[in-house]
Amino acid sequence: MDQEQLKQQIKQLAGERNALLIAHNYQRDEVQEIAEITGDSLALSMAAANTGKQVIVFCGVHFMAESAAILAPEKTVLLPRADAGCPMADMITAEQLRAFKAEHPGATVVTYVNSSAAVKAESDICCTSSNAVNVARSLDSDTLLMVPDRNLGRYIAGHVPEKDCICWDGFCPTHDRLKVEEVKQAKAEHPDALFMAHPECTPEILELADHICSTSGMYEFARRSPVRKFIVGTENGILWRLKIDNPEKEFIMPSQALVCPNMKLTSLEDILLCLQTLEPRIRVAADIREKAKRSLDRMLAVPRD
Ligand code: 13P
Ligand code: SF4
Repeated sequence: MDQEQLKQQIKQLAGERNALLIAHNYQRDEVQEIAEITGDSLALSMAAANTGKQVIVFCGVHFMAESAAILAPEKTVLLPRADAGCPMADMITAEQLRAFKAEHPGATVVTYVNSSAAVKAESDICCTSSNAVNVARSLDSDTLLMVPDRNLGRYIAGHVPEKDCICWDGFCPTHDRLKVEEVKQAKAEHPDALFMAHPECTPEILELADHICSTSGMYEFARRSPVRKFIVGTENGILWRLKIDNPEKEFIMPSQALVCPNMKLTSLEDILLCLQTLEPRIRVAADIREKAKRSLDRMLAVPRD
C-alpha cells in the first residue's frame, strides 16, 4: 500500500471508530500531516481531555498517552507504538521520588509532564515547558523539588530567584546532544538569524538563545517575528509545520543529532494497525490515576499568559 492509500484508510477508519488522531510536534512529517491536531505536550493533553470522541490515537511517546488516559479515563487511549518511551521520563521512579521528598520535607514537588503516572501521583503539581515558569510562580512554597529535568529545573530557577529550586539530575538525551560550538557556528554562518531554544537544552545553550520556549511557542515566535531566519534548538520534527506556516522564512538546524528516536518510531502502518485492533491501549490503575490527575488538574488550573 502506498502512503496515499494508507492515509485514506486511516482517515476512513478513524471516522468509523469515532477516533481523534493527535500528534506531537516531533512526529514524522507524514504522521503530523494525517493528524487532526498537532501540538506540544500541554495542548495535546488538553485536546485529549476535551474531545467528544471516544477513541484517542496518541502519536507521541508513552507518558503523553498516559496523561491522556489520566485526564480522560472513560476514553480508549491508544499509543500506536507501545515501545515509544521517553528516556528522560525513565530517569526517575516513584520510589526514587519518595526518597527525594523524604530528604526535603515540606518542599513542593513540581514534576515535568515527561514522567510516569506513578511519579505524577507522588507529585504536588505538574508542569510542561510552556507553563513551567507560571506554575513555579503560582506556588507558595519557598522550596521546590524539580523533577526529572535538571535543565528545565535550572531554567525555572532563573525565573523564580526568590525560591530554592532543587533539581533531579534527569535530562533529555536528544536536546543534550546539541553542542555550544554547533550553535556558535550556526550563528556565525547566519548572523541575521534568531536562535530559539527549548528549555530541555543545557544552560550553556540557553545562554546563547534569543528566545526560550516550548515547541508550540516556537511556532508562535517564528510567525510573529519580523525576522526571516531562525536557528532551531529542538527536535527536527518541528520543521514540518514551521516551514508550512512560514514559507517565506528560513529555518536552520544547528546539528544533525536533534532527532528523538522514540518520537520517530510511529509510522502510518502502525496507526492503521492500531485503529484496526484498538491496541496497544494505555491504561492507568485507578489509585495512581486519581493521584496523578490531581497534579495535572492543579497544573491546568494555573492561569496562562
Ligand atoms: P513540548 O512539546 O511540551 O515543548 O515538549 C517537548 C518534549 O520533549 C516532549 O517530549
Ligand atoms: Fe523524551 Fe527528549 Fe524524546 Fe522529548 S525529545 S520524548 S524529552 S527523549
